[in-house]
Amino acid sequence: MHAIPDSLGTQSAVVLPLNYGTAYVALYRTGPIEPGMRLFLHAAAGGVGLAVIDLARRAGLEIVGAASSHFKRERLQSEGVKHVVDSRRAHVDRVARDLYGRNGGFDIIIDSVGGRTISQGIRALRPGGRLVSCGVATLSKRGILGALGLLFSTPRIDPFRMLARSRGFYGVHLGQLMRDPVLVREVLDELIRLADAKEIHPEPGRVMQLAEAATAHHLLERRRNVGKIVLRV
Ligand SMILES: NC(=O)c1ccc[n+]([C@@H]2O[C@H](COP(=O)([O-])OP(=O)(O)OC[C@H]3O[C@@H](n4cnc5c(N)ncnc54)[C@H](OP(=O)(O)O)[C@@H]3O)[C@@H](O)[C@H]2O)c1
Repeated sequence: MHAIPDSLGTQSAVVLPLNYGTAYVALYRTGPIEPGMRLFLHAAAGGVGLAVIDLARRAGLEIVGAASSHFKRERLQSEGVKHVVDSRRAHVDRVARDLYGRNGGFDIIIDSVGGRTISQGIRALRPGGRLVSCGVATLSKRGILGALGLLFSTPRIDPFRMLARSRGFYGVHLGQLMRDPVLVREVLDELIRLADAKEIHPEPGRVMQLAEAATAHHLLERRRNVGKIVLRV
Protein backbone atom coordinates (compact mmCIF):
# COMPACT_ATOMS: atom_id res chain seq x y z
CA MET A 1 0.00 0.00 0.00
CA HIS A 2 1.39 3.39 -1.02
CA ALA A 3 0.06 6.80 0.02
CA ILE A 4 -0.52 9.11 -2.94
CA PRO A 5 1.26 12.41 -2.34
CA ASP A 6 -1.03 15.46 -2.61
CA SER A 7 1.17 16.88 -5.36
CA LEU A 8 0.46 13.89 -7.60
CA GLY A 9 -3.32 13.64 -7.75
CA THR A 10 -5.37 10.47 -8.28
CA GLN A 11 -5.44 10.48 -12.07
CA SER A 12 -1.67 10.77 -12.36
CA ALA A 13 -1.23 8.13 -9.67
CA VAL A 14 -3.33 5.68 -11.72
CA VAL A 15 -0.73 5.86 -14.49
CA LEU A 16 2.26 5.20 -12.24
CA PRO A 17 2.27 1.51 -11.28
CA LEU A 18 1.49 -0.24 -14.58
CA ASN A 19 2.59 2.20 -17.30
CA TYR A 20 5.53 3.88 -15.55
CA GLY A 21 6.37 0.74 -13.58
CA THR A 22 6.76 -1.28 -16.79
CA ALA A 23 8.63 1.57 -18.48
CA TYR A 24 10.98 2.03 -15.52
CA VAL A 25 11.83 -1.66 -15.18
CA ALA A 26 12.28 -2.02 -18.96
CA LEU A 27 14.71 0.90 -19.07
CA TYR A 28 16.49 0.83 -15.72
CA ARG A 29 16.46 -2.78 -14.56
CA THR A 30 17.62 -4.49 -17.72
CA GLY A 31 21.03 -2.91 -18.31
CA PRO A 32 22.94 0.35 -18.58
CA ILE A 33 21.15 3.57 -19.45
CA GLU A 34 23.30 6.58 -20.33
CA PRO A 35 22.71 9.94 -22.03
CA GLY A 36 23.00 9.72 -25.81
CA MET A 37 22.04 6.04 -26.00
CA ARG A 38 19.72 5.25 -28.87
CA LEU A 39 16.30 3.87 -28.01
CA PHE A 40 13.76 2.42 -30.42
CA LEU A 41 10.24 2.26 -29.06
CA HIS A 42 7.39 0.28 -30.63
CA ALA A 43 3.78 1.38 -29.85
CA ALA A 44 5.29 4.67 -28.69
CA ALA A 45 1.97 6.52 -28.34
CA GLY A 46 0.39 3.88 -26.07
CA GLY A 47 0.19 4.13 -22.29
CA VAL A 48 3.49 2.33 -21.69
CA GLY A 49 5.07 4.08 -24.70
CA LEU A 50 4.42 7.61 -23.42
CA ALA A 51 5.76 6.61 -19.99
CA VAL A 52 8.95 5.26 -21.62
CA ILE A 53 9.32 8.54 -23.53
CA ASP A 54 8.93 10.59 -20.35
CA LEU A 55 11.59 8.56 -18.52
CA ALA A 56 13.91 8.28 -21.55
CA ARG A 57 13.79 12.03 -22.21
CA ARG A 58 14.82 12.68 -18.62
CA ALA A 59 17.70 10.20 -19.02
CA GLY A 60 18.90 11.98 -22.18
CA LEU A 61 18.31 9.10 -24.60
CA GLU A 62 17.89 9.65 -28.33
CA ILE A 63 14.39 8.32 -28.99
CA VAL A 64 13.03 6.82 -32.19
CA GLY A 65 9.32 6.04 -31.87
CA ALA A 66 6.85 4.10 -34.01
CA ALA A 67 3.11 4.65 -34.25
CA SER A 68 0.44 3.70 -36.77
CA SER A 69 -1.45 6.94 -37.38
CA HIS A 70 -0.59 10.49 -38.36
CA PHE A 71 -2.37 11.80 -35.26
CA LYS A 72 -0.22 9.65 -32.95
CA ARG A 73 2.98 10.52 -34.80
CA GLU A 74 2.24 14.24 -34.41
CA ARG A 75 1.86 13.68 -30.68
CA LEU A 76 5.20 11.86 -30.55
CA GLN A 77 6.88 14.78 -32.30
CA SER A 78 5.39 17.16 -29.76
CA GLU A 79 6.82 14.91 -27.01
CA GLY A 80 10.33 15.53 -28.40
CA VAL A 81 10.81 12.13 -30.06
CA LYS A 82 13.75 12.71 -32.43
CA HIS A 83 12.65 10.40 -35.25
CA VAL A 84 9.06 9.24 -35.67
CA VAL A 85 8.24 6.36 -38.01
CA ASP A 86 5.08 4.73 -39.32
CA SER A 87 4.77 1.37 -37.57
CA ARG A 88 2.72 -0.06 -40.43
CA ARG A 89 5.58 0.47 -42.91
CA ALA A 90 8.85 0.79 -41.03
CA HIS A 91 10.89 -2.23 -39.92
CA VAL A 92 13.21 -1.51 -37.03
CA ASP A 93 16.27 -3.07 -38.72
CA ARG A 94 15.80 -0.88 -41.81
CA VAL A 95 15.24 2.18 -39.63
CA ALA A 96 18.54 1.43 -37.84
CA ARG A 97 20.38 1.08 -41.15
CA ASP A 98 18.85 4.27 -42.59
CA LEU A 99 19.62 6.34 -39.52
CA TYR A 100 22.94 4.91 -38.34
CA GLY A 101 24.44 3.05 -41.30
CA ARG A 102 25.28 -0.63 -41.75
CA ASN A 103 27.35 -0.97 -38.59
CA GLY A 104 25.17 1.23 -36.39
CA GLY A 105 22.10 0.30 -34.42
CA PHE A 106 20.13 0.81 -31.26
CA ASP A 107 21.32 0.41 -27.68
CA ILE A 108 17.84 -0.38 -26.37
CA ILE A 109 14.71 -1.57 -28.16
CA ILE A 110 11.46 -1.84 -26.23
CA ASP A 111 9.10 -4.19 -27.99
CA SER A 112 5.49 -4.73 -26.97
CA VAL A 113 4.37 -5.95 -30.41
CA GLY A 114 6.02 -9.38 -30.67
CA GLY A 115 6.54 -11.88 -33.51
CA ARG A 116 8.59 -10.62 -36.46
CA THR A 117 9.53 -7.39 -34.69
CA ILE A 118 11.70 -9.48 -32.33
CA SER A 119 13.95 -10.88 -35.09
CA GLN A 120 14.05 -7.48 -36.82
CA GLY A 121 14.88 -5.88 -33.48
CA ILE A 122 17.74 -8.25 -32.66
CA ARG A 123 19.26 -7.43 -36.06
CA ALA A 124 18.87 -3.70 -35.31
CA LEU A 125 20.93 -3.77 -32.09
CA ARG A 126 24.47 -2.50 -31.97
CA PRO A 127 27.00 -4.62 -30.01
CA GLY A 128 26.18 -4.32 -26.31
CA GLY A 129 22.59 -3.45 -27.11
CA ARG A 130 19.53 -5.15 -25.66
CA LEU A 131 16.01 -5.88 -26.81
CA VAL A 132 13.45 -5.71 -24.02
CA SER A 133 10.29 -7.64 -24.79
CA CYS A 134 7.32 -6.55 -22.67
CA GLY A 135 4.22 -7.58 -24.59
CA VAL A 136 2.67 -9.28 -27.59
CA ALA A 137 0.08 -6.86 -28.98
CA THR A 138 0.11 -8.91 -32.20
CA LEU A 139 -1.83 -11.54 -30.29
CA SER A 140 -4.86 -9.32 -29.75
CA LYS A 141 -8.19 -10.24 -31.41
CA ARG A 142 -6.85 -12.76 -33.91
CA GLY A 143 -7.90 -15.91 -32.04
CA ILE A 144 -6.20 -19.24 -32.49
CA LEU A 145 -4.86 -18.44 -35.97
CA GLY A 146 -3.30 -15.26 -34.63
CA ALA A 147 -1.69 -17.23 -31.81
CA LEU A 148 -0.26 -19.77 -34.27
CA GLY A 149 0.99 -16.97 -36.53
CA LEU A 150 2.69 -15.35 -33.56
CA LEU A 151 4.27 -18.65 -32.55
CA PHE A 152 5.73 -19.23 -36.02
CA SER A 153 6.88 -15.65 -36.54
CA THR A 154 8.64 -15.43 -33.16
CA PRO A 155 12.33 -16.29 -33.49
CA ARG A 156 13.98 -18.96 -31.37
CA ILE A 157 16.72 -17.07 -29.60
CA ASP A 158 20.13 -18.64 -30.25
CA PRO A 159 22.43 -17.94 -27.27
CA PHE A 160 25.58 -18.52 -29.37
CA ARG A 161 24.55 -15.90 -31.92
CA MET A 162 23.65 -13.47 -29.14
CA LEU A 163 27.06 -14.11 -27.56
CA ALA A 164 28.97 -13.81 -30.85
CA ARG A 165 27.27 -10.50 -31.62
CA SER A 166 27.24 -9.31 -28.02
CA ARG A 167 23.53 -8.55 -27.96
CA GLY A 168 20.99 -9.19 -25.22
CA PHE A 169 17.36 -10.24 -24.98
CA TYR A 170 15.37 -9.43 -21.86
CA GLY A 171 11.79 -10.29 -20.93
CA VAL A 172 9.86 -8.04 -18.56
CA HIS A 173 6.62 -9.23 -16.99
CA LEU A 174 5.38 -6.98 -14.23
CA GLY A 175 3.00 -9.70 -12.98
CA GLN A 176 6.04 -11.81 -12.04
CA LEU A 177 8.17 -8.94 -10.77
CA MET A 178 5.40 -7.60 -8.53
CA ARG A 179 5.73 -10.73 -6.41
CA ASP A 180 8.86 -9.12 -5.04
CA PRO A 181 7.62 -6.52 -2.50
CA VAL A 182 11.07 -4.97 -2.15
CA LEU A 183 11.31 -4.27 -5.87
CA VAL A 184 7.74 -2.91 -6.00
CA ARG A 185 8.49 -0.51 -3.15
CA GLU A 186 11.80 0.62 -4.67
CA VAL A 187 10.28 1.27 -8.09
CA LEU A 188 7.17 3.03 -6.77
CA ASP A 189 9.18 5.12 -4.29
CA GLU A 190 11.49 6.25 -7.09
CA LEU A 191 8.61 7.04 -9.48
CA ILE A 192 6.74 8.99 -6.81
CA ARG A 193 9.94 10.89 -5.99
CA LEU A 194 10.49 11.77 -9.66
CA ALA A 195 6.85 12.83 -10.12
CA ASP A 196 6.96 14.88 -6.92
CA ALA A 197 10.09 16.64 -8.16
CA LYS A 198 8.35 17.24 -11.53
CA GLU A 199 11.10 15.29 -13.28
CA ILE A 200 8.46 13.09 -14.87
CA HIS A 201 4.89 14.00 -15.77
CA PRO A 202 2.52 11.06 -15.44
CA GLU A 203 -0.84 11.95 -16.99
CA PRO A 204 -3.62 9.81 -18.42
CA GLY A 205 -4.15 10.22 -22.16
CA ARG A 206 -7.87 10.63 -21.62
CA VAL A 207 -10.33 10.51 -18.72
CA MET A 208 -13.82 9.16 -19.44
CA GLN A 209 -16.88 8.39 -17.36
CA LEU A 210 -17.55 4.77 -16.36
CA ALA A 211 -20.72 4.94 -18.49
CA GLU A 212 -18.44 5.45 -21.52
CA ALA A 213 -16.56 2.18 -20.88
CA ALA A 214 -17.81 0.65 -24.15
CA THR A 215 -16.50 3.64 -26.14
CA ALA A 216 -13.20 3.39 -24.27
CA HIS A 217 -12.87 -0.30 -25.22
CA HIS A 218 -13.74 0.58 -28.79
CA LEU A 219 -10.94 3.17 -28.89
CA LEU A 220 -8.44 0.67 -27.50
CA GLU A 221 -9.48 -2.08 -29.92
CA ARG A 222 -9.20 0.29 -32.88
CA ARG A 223 -5.82 1.54 -31.63
CA ARG A 224 -7.15 5.09 -31.49
CA ASN A 225 -6.04 5.86 -27.93
CA VAL A 226 -3.05 8.00 -27.13
CA GLY A 227 -1.76 7.14 -23.66
CA LYS A 228 -3.82 5.41 -21.01
CA ILE A 229 -7.59 5.79 -20.82
CA VAL A 230 -8.76 6.23 -17.23
CA LEU A 231 -12.40 5.65 -16.29
CA ARG A 232 -13.86 7.89 -13.60
CA VAL A 233 -16.14 5.99 -11.21
N1 LIG B 1 5.19 -6.84 -19.58
C1 LIG B 1 4.44 -6.17 -18.73
O1 LIG B 1 4.58 -6.27 -17.53
C2 LIG B 1 3.41 -5.24 -19.29
C3 LIG B 1 2.82 -4.26 -18.51
C4 LIG B 1 1.91 -3.38 -19.10
C5 LIG B 1 1.57 -3.54 -20.43
N2 LIG B 1 2.14 -4.55 -21.14
C6 LIG B 1 1.85 -4.74 -22.57
O2 LIG B 1 2.46 -3.67 -23.26
C7 LIG B 1 1.68 -3.37 -24.40
C8 LIG B 1 1.37 -1.89 -24.42
O3 LIG B 1 0.55 -1.59 -23.31
P1 LIG B 1 -0.17 -0.19 -23.27
O4 LIG B 1 -0.79 -0.04 -21.94
O5 LIG B 1 0.77 0.85 -23.75
O6 LIG B 1 -1.32 -0.41 -24.34
P2 LIG B 1 -2.05 0.65 -25.28
O7 LIG B 1 -2.02 2.01 -24.68
O8 LIG B 1 -3.36 0.06 -25.62
O9 LIG B 1 -1.14 0.67 -26.58
C9 LIG B 1 -1.00 -0.48 -27.35
C10 LIG B 1 -0.52 -0.07 -28.73
O10 LIG B 1 0.16 -1.17 -29.33
C11 LIG B 1 0.21 -0.92 -30.72
N3 LIG B 1 0.05 -2.13 -31.51
C12 LIG B 1 0.97 -2.60 -32.37
N4 LIG B 1 0.56 -3.69 -32.96
C13 LIG B 1 -0.67 -3.95 -32.50
C14 LIG B 1 -1.62 -4.95 -32.79
N5 LIG B 1 -1.38 -5.93 -33.65
N6 LIG B 1 -2.80 -4.89 -32.14
C15 LIG B 1 -3.05 -3.91 -31.26
N7 LIG B 1 -2.17 -2.93 -30.96
C16 LIG B 1 -0.99 -2.95 -31.58
C17 LIG B 1 -0.88 0.11 -31.02
O11 LIG B 1 -0.20 1.33 -31.34
P3 LIG B 1 -0.05 1.72 -32.87
O12 LIG B 1 -1.45 1.75 -33.42
O13 LIG B 1 0.57 3.07 -32.83
O14 LIG B 1 0.82 0.69 -33.51
C18 LIG B 1 -1.63 0.25 -29.71
O15 LIG B 1 -2.16 1.52 -29.54
C19 LIG B 1 0.44 -4.27 -24.36
O16 LIG B 1 0.70 -5.37 -25.20
C20 LIG B 1 0.38 -4.70 -22.91
O17 LIG B 1 -0.23 -5.96 -22.78
C21 LIG B 1 3.05 -5.38 -20.60
